[in-house]
Amino acid sequence: MGGGIGTRCWCAIILFALASGPTTYGDECDLYQGNWVYDESYPLYDSSECPHIRKEYDCIKNGRPDLNYLKFRWQPTNCNLPRFNAEEFLTKMSGKKIMYIGDSVSENQWQSMMCLLRTSLPPQSIINEHTAKSTTTVTFEDYGVSISVFLSHYLVDIVEEDIGRVLKLDSITNGDVWKENDVLIFNTWLWWYRRGEKQPWDYIQIGTNITKDMDRMVAFQEGLNTWANWVNSEIDTEKTIVFFQGVSPSHYNGSDWNEPGVTNCAKETLPMNGSTYPGGVPRAEMVVEKVLSGITKPVSLLNITRLSQLRKDAHPSTFNIFGMDCTHWCVAGLPDTWNLLLYAGLV
Ligand SMILES: *[C@@H]1O[C@H](CO)[C@@H](O)[C@H](O)[C@H]1NC(C)=O
Ligand SMILES: *[C@@H]1O[C@H](CO)[C@@H](O)[C@H](O)[C@H]1NC(C)=O
Ligand SMILES: *[C@@H]1O[C@H](CO)[C@@H](O)[C@H](O)[C@H]1NC(C)=O
Ligand SMILES: *[C@@H]1O[C@H](CO)[C@@H](O)[C@H](O)[C@H]1NC(C)=O
Repeated sequence: MGGGIGTRCWCAIILFALASGPTTYGDECDLYQGNWVYDESYPLYDSSECPHIRKEYDCIKNGRPDLNYLKFRWQPTNCNLPRFNAEEFLTKMSGKKIMYIGDSVSENQWQSMMCLLRTSLPPQSIINEHTAKSTTTVTFEDYGVSISVFLSHYLVDIVEEDIGRVLKLDSITNGDVWKENDVLIFNTWLWWYRRGEKQPWDYIQIGTNITKDMDRMVAFQEGLNTWANWVNSEIDTEKTIVFFQGVSPSHYNGSDWNEPGVTNCAKETLPMNGSTYPGGVPRAEMVVEKVLSGITKPVSLLNITRLSQLRKDAHPSTFNIFGMDCTHWCVAGLPDTWNLLLYAGLV
């Protein structure tokens, strides 16, 4: 486009002249650099009107009394995050299939998306839900848009064999189901350090090497590399847009947020001020970024780690049915912002 550069120059000059406040979303803006601001207009929906929230994440229903955690909006430093518009999103995505793939954090985000859409559509909208094996799909029939969540804790396979359950770091057999979608949002991390009864496998295999256990961070990287190779060889990125969700942080070590000695998020009712997090970047996130930097196909990182680290207040904590949870997130709440970022990437 011949006029593109000229137009852009004019924009730059105008923006420079108006440089006092945040501008609207543009090419140059880092949506992930910013801070949380109190916003009376939040939350974006009333969670009691959303039928898709798993009871562990329905914090208000579970009696959470402090509600300030619902009132924070992510403010990028140099621009604004577009406000969610369900109608616009579904129109733009008309005829498309979207799938979240990963562990319960993916489910957390999918539920938030269901609530964002559902609570702003007219009551006569035709919405169907269907569950089969690892997948739950909600179809917005009026737009022909379906949005699924596919539960896969590791993305790579776990197979029942004679010796027991084997985590196969070099194999992805569910991929044929995934690649039929138009938008994929992947995530895995939470389950890689599980041990004892909570560990769903007995052996780890790479190639012909079968072992009882190995360095878990190395295993994580191996698994992610297998996923990256799968994307490189199997995904037609002309048709399918791929996102990887960065590591969702938990809050069990107060040293990470300048409260040494604190061992959970139970007393946290406010986000951290500013943009910096004393705990730094989680090692797993470094692995994610390293693997993504080596991938040859275009894959966007939903870089949610830092902005989520600042939200020590946004977990279910004791307002949950299983006891202390500083890993998942209340819905409504932080996952709504993850979806706003996804929305910004898609619309
Ligand atoms: C993710 O965001 C953090 C914090 O803003 C930043 O330091 C990091 O470079 C970002 N990662 C990528 C791959 O953009
Ligand atoms: C098998 O894997 C284990 C754990 O990673 C490693 O220590 C060992 O050297 C590997 N063996 C072979 C033959 O590759
Ligand atoms: C919490 O983090 C600090 C600083 O990184 C570390 O020294 C400490 O061992 C951690 N505590 C626990 C219980 O892991
Ligand atoms: C965060 O900033 C607000 C507003 O500037 C201030 O009232 C509050 O004390 C600060 N909190 C912390 C923990 O620094």
